[in-house]
Amino acid sequence: MSFSDKKLTEVGGESLKKSKKKQKKDDAWRPEGPRDPFAMLDSLPEKKQQEIQRALHLFSLGPSLPKTLQQAMKHTYRFWETQPVPRLNDNITSHGPIKEDEINVRKEPYSLPKGFSWATLDLSSPTLEELCNLLNENYMEEDDNTIRFNFSLEYLQWALQPPNWLAQWHCAVRVDTNKKLVGFIAAVPVDKRMVQVKFLCVHKKLRLKRMTPVLIREVTRRANQLGIRQAVYTAGIVLPTPLSSCRYWHRPLNTRKMMEVNYPGLRKNMNLHRARKFNHLPEATKTKGLRPMTKKDVVGIHSLLQTNSSKFHLRPILSLQEVEHWLLPRENVIDTYVVEGDDGTLTDVVSFYSVSSKVLNHPVHTDVKAAHLLYVASSATDLADLMEDTVILKDVDVFSALDVMDNKNFLEKIKFSVSDRSLHYYLYNWACPKMKFLTK
Ligand SMILES: CC(C)(COP(=O)(O)OP(=O)(O)OC[C@H]1O[C@@H](n2cnc3c(N)ncnc32)[C@H](O)[C@@H]1OP(=O)(O)O)[C@@H](O)C(=O)NCCC(=O)NCCS
Repeated sequence: MSFSDKKLTEVGGESLKKSKKKQKKDDAWRPEGPRDPFAMLDSLPEKKQQEIQRALHLFSLGPSLPKTLQQAMKHTYRFWETQPVPRLNDNITSHGPIKEDEINVRKEPYSLPKGFSWATLDLSSPTLEELCNLLNENYMEEDDNTIRFNFSLEYLQWALQPPNWLAQWHCAVRVDTNKKLVGFIAAVPVDKRMVQVKFLCVHKKLRLKRMTPVLIREVTRRANQLGIRQAVYTAGIVLPTPLSSCRYWHRPLNTRKMMEVNYPGLRKNMNLHRARKFNHLPEATKTKGLRPMTKKDVVGIHSLLQTNSSKFHLRPILSLQEVEHWLLPRENVIDTYVVEGDDGTLTDVVSFYSVSSKVLNHPVHTDVKAAHLLYVASSATDLADLMEDTVILKDVDVFSALDVMDNKNFLEKIKFSVSDRSLHYYLYNWACPKMKFLTK
């Protein structure tokens, strides 16, 4: 059954072949009107839902998507093979678009199966809350269903509403009958010529029905309408074709909790006592002049980031407005610290965002608070010292970072451990040689 070409007659796995007897019994408690399968499953206690999900995961015979290049070489990408992206074994030596601009961009939205409609989310209340629920119940989780992102409303506003954001690029799918949100994809501007695609999510009960290709085609069409032909995106799976790949590293701060929830990617070769000793941090920071960023630092930070990123092949180019949006501290969303020299010039900057995760089915713990490194640029302070101070300043359970740019210089020194999870970077409709670790 396919989302794009067949009717979805079994939304939520409802079997239409129930015996009449069973139907009658079910009808006994059924309120007026057609029964909503989502409401039915949602009415089960969270624990029961998790058990069903775990069982489905354990017994799932469905194809899983490639996590390595070797697996990817054997996979048939029915959708991605139709898209302007490099093939896995292409050896690219030049830079440029894969598909030239078409003069006519399709005017009508891509068609959805009967019973579903497109929705544009402006992220005012209550759509923001609806999106938050969709993501918090269906977005990425560990393969064993133990930990799942738990975004706040403020985090989503920050992530989805940078300067020049457009509601029409917050592209969602709703069920006609009950208006339930079941699919989402967003594009946000990163440059005049390009968007970043993020928060691709399909409701768990509509997975493997090819909704993803329709979401990707539709958001592409909406970007094309405004003359934008290129996109950047990341994924944990291997698609055709990663431009660059990196690993997640983690540094536990609440060692006991991280061990108890079995947080993925932490060192496994220590008992609690040794691990706590190993991860112990000084009480106070040591960098002189370290302070939270304020609005008046925007210009100084912009220039620090520009100088630092010019060392790298693949880098974000931020305007002053974007520096303000992405870095200016917002409670429980984004923190940025700067180091100010005696003469008032900014010499270093470090910035990280906060996202909690929900711990599922644990007898004691319900959440994990994590900080993720966003940008760091230093011209005076040792990178490891600056990062250690940053870790001290943030009251979270775990600190995470990717080994992009210069990050490898400090990760091991300040006791981050490498996980087996990778993040792959992709460009849409742009061919160029691969870039290792994003460095020149
Ligand atoms: C990712 C997700 C939307 C895929 O949905 P699905 O129901 O498994 O897949 P569908 O049947 O709709 O579509 C399958 C196609 O989408 C592609 N696809 C799957 N995940 C993708 C991703 N993260 N990015 C781009 N394409 C993806 C597949 O490769 C496949 O295309 P192919 O035939 O060319 O291989 C869904 O698993 C989900 O919501 N997961 C949780 C959130 C998440 O992980 N989001 C991605 C963040 S990077």
